[in-house]
Amino acid sequence: MIVAATRRDLREALASARGEGLRIGLVPTMGYLHEGHLSLVDLARGRSDFVAASIFVNPLQFGPQEDLSRYPRDVKRDLALLRGKGVDLVFHPGLQEMYPQGDPVVMVDPGTLGQRLCGEFRPGHFRGVLTVVARLFGLFRPQVAVFGQKDYQQAVLIRRMVRDLELQVEVHLGPIVREADGLAMSSRNVFLSPEERTHALGIRRGLLHVQDAFQAGERSMGALRDLLAREVEAYHLLELQYGEIVHPESLEPLGAVLPGAVVAVAAHCGATRLIDNLILKGEANGSAV
Ligand code: PAJ
Repeated sequence: MIVAATRRDLREALASARGEGLRIGLVPTMGYLHEGHLSLVDLARGRSDFVAASIFVNPLQFGPQEDLSRYPRDVKRDLALLRGKGVDLVFHPGLQEMYPQGDPVVMVDPGTLGQRLCGEFRPGHFRGVLTVVARLFGLFRPQVAVFGQKDYQQAVLIRRMVRDLELQVEVHLGPIVREADGLAMSSRNVFLSPEERTHALGIRRGLLHVQDAFQAGERSMGALRDLLAREVEAYHLLELQYGEIVHPESLEPLGAVLPGAVVAVAAHCGATRLIDNLILKGEANGSAV
C-alpha cells in the first residue's frame, strides 16, 4: 500500500496506476475508521481496479462551535485497517499540503439543498464538504467515488454537484453499517458514555417505529413525525434537532408520504451530535417516490 502525504507523491502514484490503464476508485474519509468506512472500500474494490482512500479532517466543514479540535484521530490504526483491506493508495495530507494557499477563496455553493436538514443547524458545513470533495476529485481524478448513505444529505449533494458541474465521476452509495444493536457506526460514537450509548439507540428505534407505522398503513406526515419525535425523546439523554420525512432527492418535506421517502434524524446525545436515516419501504411491491 502506498501512503502519500504530499500531492506530488499522490500524483506520481496515480500516474503509474493510470499508465497501466487501471480504473481509480476513491473513498474519501476523515479517518478514525470503522466497519462502515471499510464497507465502502469493499464497494470501491468491486467497481474499480485501483482503490484509493483519503484521510483528512477537513476544517472547512466544521463550524466555530463544533468538534474540530477533538475530532478523534488514529492514523496508525487507520493505515493498518486499510492495509488489511488491500487498499492500493492512501492520501493523508497535512493541512498545509491540502490547502497550500490557505482556505480556498472559491468554494462550491450547495444552494438551497444545503440549507435543508443538517444545513439548517450547521451553516457552511456542506459548502466545506463539497469544496473538499471537489478538490479531492481534482487531485485524484477518480473514475469512481464511494460514499455512505449514513450521511444521506451529503451523498445527495455530492451526486448533485457531480451532475450540475459535469465532474465525470461515477458516484456509488454504500448502505449504513450498524453495531449489533442497531446504532449506526460513527467515528463520533467513541464520545458516548455508557449511559449515553444506551440512549443513542432511541434514534434507530424512532426510525423503525416510523417504518412499522408506515407499513401498517399510516400515511399522515404529521402523525409519522409525531411518532418519531415521541419515540426519540422518550430517551431522556437525546435531544432531537430534527426528525423529518423528505423527498429522496429534493430533500423537501412531502405532501404525501410514499415509499422511497427518506426519514432523517439528527439528535444530540449529551455533547455528541448523531445522525441516522432510513428509506421507507412500502408493502409488497412498493413504488419509489
Ligand atoms: P467521514 O465521516 O469519515 O465518512 C467517510 C465516509 O464514510 C462517508 O461517505 C460516510 O457517509 C461513510 N460512513 C460513515 N459512517 C458510515 C456507516 N455507519 N456505514 C456506512 N458508511 C458510513 O463524511 C465524511 O467523512 C466527510 O464529510 C468527507 C466526505 C470525507 C469530506 O470531508
